[in-house]
Amino acid sequence: MKILINKTDLGQNDCDLLVLSDFEGRKGLNKKIKNIDIILDGVLSKVIKEDNFKFKKSTILKLRTFNKIPTKKILLVGLGKEEEFTSQTEREISATVSCLIKKMGCKKVVTVIHGDDIEQIDTKNLAKALIEGLILGGYVYGKYKKDKTANKLEIVEVFSDAIKPAELSKAISDGKNGAEGTMFARDLVNTPGLHMAPVDLVNSAKEIAKGKKDLKVRVYDKEQLKKMGAGGLLAVNQGSDHEPYLVHMVYKPEGKIKKKIAIVGKAVTFDSGGLSLKPAEYMMSMKCDMGGSAALLGLFSVINEIKPQVEVHGIFGAVENMPSGKAIRPGDVIKALNGKTIEILNTDAEGRVTLADTLSFAVKKKPDLIIDLATLTGACVVALGEEMTGVMSNNPELANKILIAAASAGEKMWELPLEKNYKKLLKSDIADLKNIGGRYGGALTAGLFLEEFVGKTPWAHLDIAGPAYAERPMNSYEKKGATGHGVRTLIEFLKAI
Ligand code: BES
Ligand code: MG
Ligand code: ZN
Repeated sequence: MKILINKTDLGQNDCDLLVLSDFEGRKGLNKKIKNIDIILDGVLSKVIKEDNFKFKKSTILKLRTFNKIPTKKILLVGLGKEEEFTSQTEREISATVSCLIKKMGCKKVVTVIHGDDIEQIDTKNLAKALIEGLILGGYVYGKYKKDKTANKLEIVEVFSDAIKPAELSKAISDGKNGAEGTMFARDLVNTPGLHMAPVDLVNSAKEIAKGKKDLKVRVYDKEQLKKMGAGGLLAVNQGSDHEPYLVHMVYKPEGKIKKKIAIVGKAVTFDSGGLSLKPAEYMMSMKCDMGGSAALLGLFSVINEIKPQVEVHGIFGAVENMPSGKAIRPGDVIKALNGKTIEILNTDAEGRVTLADTLSFAVKKKPDLIIDLATLTGACVVALGEEMTGVMSNNPELANKILIAAASAGEKMWELPLEKNYKKLLKSDIADLKNIGGRYGGALTAGLFLEEFVGKTPWAHLDIAGPAYAERPMNSYEKKGATGHGVRTLIEFLKAI
């Protein structure tokens, strides 16, 4: 799909569909609708009146133009109340429109930036959200479907008299990058465990870096993991028939580098729970347990387009958590990459055991800060519900920056505490730590466990267990299945450095 800036007079566009919009409860129609209304001899205002169309949020009125103008059809879209309108509303409405465009089978569409006549709003952000909604709203995972109802949409042109062309063009590419990175992550997460073994994540990383001189990938196999002492990754993968890998990607731009950061992603390609086997209902969506690494790969898939002046290390340990005669047992003790020993009391608390190694690995690269993303605990979903990420950090400033980035990306995140008093819950009788902290505050004890492996490096942990995979639609652009949650927050975070 091509996204361009529209340069034609709004009423003169030769296209299948023109998308116009207005707010609820405003006096009279806005200038753009009025102008088209005049060319159409008052048909718009007549239909609006007859249908009692009030421009309530996400309501849509569809009209034909009967060859009075080159545009075949018009959508009038309700934006709701002006005072409640944000770039998040833009994203949602744009995605709703995108679904309709797909159903209508349009090839060429011209759209306004909804709400760009509000004075105090950041039009660049609106334009970006419009593009994200348009692309993400049309996402489907069709790999295994015989009936692939293809999106016929080829060209979208964006019209705005409230933003300079150079700024609009930047906003369009920002929106595209955010959406494409997100969809990259969605495709990885939606792919069943059958076709998403650890080696497939390795291949995805290699594929991304192919032919790009500022991207490098180093892959460590099982023998190398043994040599470096990655006892956590090896232990979790012990029951699987697949080989484990540690992947280290580096993005290093030319010119002055502002910061060096590490992003670590949980990459359990399937989490059966191991010998502490999950009940069937809880296992059904566990192909999503590599969602953290998918977000990381989603970011890396577009990082060359975004070109942040930041050195970014992407690190993940790809494993599969399976029960078998070779599997790690409850009660076993293993040694992580940083030398700390862990008593594994529940093999289903495997994510933190893998992150013990990958975080230790990240620390050795001496980054200015570390961010990890992990589908880590059901407890976080109990605490914050299915749509929110829990953020835990040893550095309030970093936590704040992530929350700001998330808000601007339209991803819901909330900070949870790393309560020192709960550290006692992780004490083991026979090892340095145990891998479970008891019944209560499970997201926090998991966070505290991870903190043991980051030393003094400023670090933030994003528990994305809820929003990484939507069991039911979250909104018009995050429907059932993988959401790619985290990608756009990471992009916003990098841009703000
Ligand atoms: N991968 C799960 C967490 C999860 C739950 C992700 C729901 C996505 C949706 C994790 O490995 C796990 O099983 N955690 C256990 C920890 C417990 C045994 C301490 C959990 O949350 O039940
Ligand atoms: Mg588990
Ligand atoms: Zn898991």
